[in-house]
Amino acid sequence: MSDKLFSQLENIIEEIVGFQVSSTEELEKFRIRYLGTKNVVKPLFAEIRNIPNERKKEFGLLLNKVKFAAENKFADLQSTIQAKEDKRDHKLDLTAPSREIMVGSFHPISLVMNRIIDIFSHIGFVVAEDREIEDDWHNFTAMNTPYHHPARDMQDTFYLKGSTDQLLRTHTSSVQARVMTSQSPPIRIIAPGRVFRNETISARSHCQFHQVEGLYIDEEVSFADMKQTLMYYARSMYDKDVKVRLRPSYFPFTEPSAEMDVYWGLKTERDHRITKGTGWLEILGCGMVDPNVLENCGINPEKYSGFAFGMGIERQAMLQYRIGDIRMLFENDIRFLKQFRSAL
Ligand code: DAH
Repeated sequence: MSDKLFSQLENIIEEIVGFQVSSTEELEKFRIRYLGTKNVVKPLFAEIRNIPNERKKEFGLLLNKVKFAAENKFADLQSTIQAKEDKRDHKLDLTAPSREIMVGSFHPISLVMNRIIDIFSHIGFVVAEDREIEDDWHNFTAMNTPYHHPARDMQDTFYLKGSTDQLLRTHTSSVQARVMTSQSPPIRIIAPGRVFRNETISARSHCQFHQVEGLYIDEEVSFADMKQTLMYYARSMYDKDVKVRLRPSYFPFTEPSAEMDVYWGLKTERDHRITKGTGWLEILGCGMVDPNVLENCGINPEKYSGFAFGMGIERQAMLQYRIGDIRMLFENDIRFLKQFRSAL
């Protein structure tokens, strides 16, 4: 009697080992038969009471062997079926629609900045980048704005906690000082970058924004050279027939100083609003580098002269892409950024 039970279990093991499946349905049949709640081995567990005591242990081990054999076989069969299905999935279907390719896009600030860099690189300006955390000397003093100079109030400065020297640069003009103290003329650079001022955040102003600085120093550089360079810029950036004008202005680091306007027009209500009814838009500040600045940075003002300019990026990006609120440029809302894909 007990021999029969033993051979029954041996047969089941053999059956399990030899089992073949070719589909998930057959695999499921295997599972139900050998591992399901009503599997074929289960009734044999109850038979243990009919086994003579001295063979009970042997019988128990055999029952376990069946269970392990079923589990192992199931895992094997499962991976065979999986491999088969993977193969089927990878069959080349030339008519299948392609997967969507996720394309990123440039930020509108980068788009405008790259365009400006491109325009100036055509006439020999090279990009110079430098730190956003600056010291007082490079941001102010070297730029002819000593401690008690009233122009310091024009640029509400963020100082680093506990420091009266380390600050977030308020303009990219600090890069002028960095370049002039480390290179000798001729110098012809543009410096794009982020700047910071303690201003209330609104639709029109932000505590961080971007500028591009320009600096050209050589022997006999004149105001006329500056004017030609900036006209070339305005024509490349806006329109080849754009009207420009230079208005006298004041900056501590240039003498004489000017601001350049481009004629935007007064066709729409928006034109009136953004030009304050004049039709003109101010796009940059510029001037001949003040001899004090050259001297501060170790360049002989008797031998060299130069011009510099600085422009804001946000305003130009907002004009170009009709962005009504500067804050959108810093929120990184993907729905906003996505719209610039086609601008590539
Ligand atoms: N740094 C000035 C500002 O942030 C802009 C500027 C004006 C830069 C005249 C210059 C310049 O290089 O010559 O308002």
